[in-house]
Amino acid sequence: MIKEIGVIGAGQMGNGIAHVAALAGYDVKLLDVNADQLKKAMATIDKNLSRQVSKGKVSEADKAATLARIQPATEYQAFANSDLVIEAATENEEVKRKIFQQLCPALKPEALIASNTSSISITRLGAGTDRPAKFIGVHFMNPVPVMELVELIRGIATGEETFALVREMAVRLGKIPVSAEDFPAFIVNRILLPMINEAVYTLYEGVGTVDAIDTAMRLGAHHPMGPLELADFIGLDTCLAIMHVLHDGLADTKYRPCPLLVKYVEAGWLGRKTGRGFYDYSGEKPVPTR
Ligand code: CAA
Repeated sequence: MIKEIGVIGAGQMGNGIAHVAALAGYDVKLLDVNADQLKKAMATIDKNLSRQVSKGKVSEADKAATLARIQPATEYQAFANSDLVIEAATENEEVKRKIFQQLCPALKPEALIASNTSSISITRLGAGTDRPAKFIGVHFMNPVPVMELVELIRGIATGEETFALVREMAVRLGKIPVSAEDFPAFIVNRILLPMINEAVYTLYEGVGTVDAIDTAMRLGAHHPMGPLELADFIGLDTCLAIMHVLHDGLADTKYRPCPLLVKYVEAGWLGRKTGRGFYDYSGEKPVPTR
C-alpha cells in the first residue's frame, strides 16, 4: 500500500504531482537540487490551491492540510520511507539515468519507482535501476491539477503488482488512467507533438501568422488552446526533446523537428517559463512574435 510519495523535480510537472498527491492525502517529499526552485514550487502549489479554494473545490482547511503534507527536500535520503518515488526531472535520458543511480541506494527495497517521462523508453530507464520489476511510467498532463488523464506505461520488466498499485494511486488522485505500450512518446504525445510540430512548419512556411494558426485551431477544431500557445505552455525544449525521441525511435522522416522549433530552443526562447516563445509574455497579455 502506498502511503508516502516522493517527487523528484520541482518544475511545472513536479509541483503539480506533489499538489495532487498531497491533496489526495498522501504524505509527499518534494526534492529538487535547487533550493530556489523548491521555494518557487511551494509558492505555485499555494497559488494553485487558492484557485481551487476560490472555485469552492477545496476548503481552506484542506488547503492548509495539503500544504502541511508536502515536505521539500534537497537530499535523496529524504526518500528513505517513501513507498513510491515519481521522477519528474527534465526530459533528458542522461539526467534521468543519473538521478536513478543516486535514488536507488536511498530507497527501501520494496519501494516503487515511476518516471513521468513524456516519451523515453520505460524499459530502458527501468533497466538502469536496481528494480526493473518495480519500475513504471506514470505520465501526467499539464496542468496536473486540472487534466484528468494519466498514462500508465509498463516496461517489458514491469511487474503486475507494480502496475496495480500505481493504477490504484492514480485513481485515488482523481485521475483516469489509460494504459499505453512502451513505444516512443506513448499515446498522447505521439499524436499531439506531431500536430504541434506541423503548426511550427505552418508558421515557418508562412502559411499563417502565430495568431492565425492558433485562432484557426481554437475556433476551427475547438481546441482549448492553439497549438503554438500550447507549445509555449509545454515548453519548447520539451517539445523538441519529444520530437527527437519520435524521430530517433521510429526512424520516419515525418517526425523531423521543424528547423524553426530548433532555432527557438537554441535562442533560449522556451515559451512561458522563459518569458518568450511564440508569444512574448513580458507584458500583461501574451503578444504573438510573428
Ligand atoms: N492548478 C489548479 N487549477 C487550475 C490550474 C492549475 N495550475 N490551471 C487552471 N486551473 C483551473 C482554473 O481555476 C479553472 O477552474 P474552473 O473550471 O473551476 O473555473 C479551470 O482550470 C480552467 O482554467 P481557466 O479558466 O483559468 O483557463 P482556461 O479555461 O483557459 O483553461 C486550461 C486553462 C485548462 C489550461 C485549458 O486552456 C486547457 O485545457 N489547455 C490545454 C491543456 C493541454 O492540452 N494540456 C496537455 C499538454 S500535453 C502534456 O502535458 C503532455 C506532455 O508530456 C507534453
